[in-house]
Amino acid sequence: MKKFLVARPPVLSRVEKYKPLKAFFANPADDPLSRIFSVDWVTYNVDVWVELLGHLKDKPNLRYLEIGVYEGRSTAWMMNNIFTSPTSHITVVDIFPGEAEERFVANLKIAADYKGELNVLKGPSQSILKNLPENSFDVIYVDGDHTAPGVLADAVLAWSLLKEGGILIFDDYEMRLDLDELDLPKVSVDAFVYIYQDQLEVLHYFYQYIVRKKHQSEIEATRLDKTLRLTDKNGLFGSASNNSLSRFVLRLGERIWSKRPKFF
Ligand SMILES: C[S@@+](CC[C@H](N)C(=O)[O-])C[C@H]1O[C@@H](n2cnc3c(N)ncnc32)[C@H](O)[C@@H]1O
Repeated sequence: MKKFLVARPPVLSRVEKYKPLKAFFANPADDPLSRIFSVDWVTYNVDVWVELLGHLKDKPNLRYLEIGVYEGRSTAWMMNNIFTSPTSHITVVDIFPGEAEERFVANLKIAADYKGELNVLKGPSQSILKNLPENSFDVIYVDGDHTAPGVLADAVLAWSLLKEGGILIFDDYEMRLDLDELDLPKVSVDAFVYIYQDQLEVLHYFYQYIVRKKHQSEIEATRLDKTLRLTDKNGLFGSASNNSLSRFVLRLGERIWSKRPKFF
């Protein structure tokens, strides 16, 4: 697959200085939450989350979906910092092996101050997501099955559950373990972003990959822009994307073509 065919924003400069894996395991000495959580997969993401989700804090009626919650540390952070309105609705999905579900719920009672609704779903996300309502979530965090097939399935299913304008976060995009690439998220995130490029805007990529689902009107404008570029092989329209006359002519042509008599 060709790389960088999707327009990506510059990496947020503040984030470049992060050393994600350094803060991996909670150090009891400097982590106030280490008595509740055994591991910290949150702290090194916080600046980016505040930057890209901060405008949602206290907003009523938001719906958040988290795929893969483990002990609940990221869920608790989202509850305390973004989905703070009592009208928030959070759905979590995890296979919850052993006693994990009880531990997750108990941890949230201590670590989170949440007054909204919580829907805990146990099972593989690839089955559970199929039964959730389409276009219904404002933010979705994909952090469950980290294999390439698992991430690809979660991405595609989650995309249909996300509202227009909603935000999709992939964790561990740059995870570098000594594993086959098909056991890591990166190839799937790259494939997903490439295939869905007309429908999304890349907000951030570094250790995490974060995209926004475009509104239908934006998608149509992107497609029109691409069509203009393709049809304008001789450069007659100059910079096609900025040329309102060429847009008008193309729209007119499309309308006439769509109303043509159909004989077959
Ligand atoms: C890295 S942990 C999540 C960490 C959490 N988001 C945090 O930052 O604190 C991954 C979780 O995904 C869950 N998981 C793995 N495969 C899954 C699947 N197919 N469906 C749902 N959950 C899955 C695991 O049980 C585990 O709890």
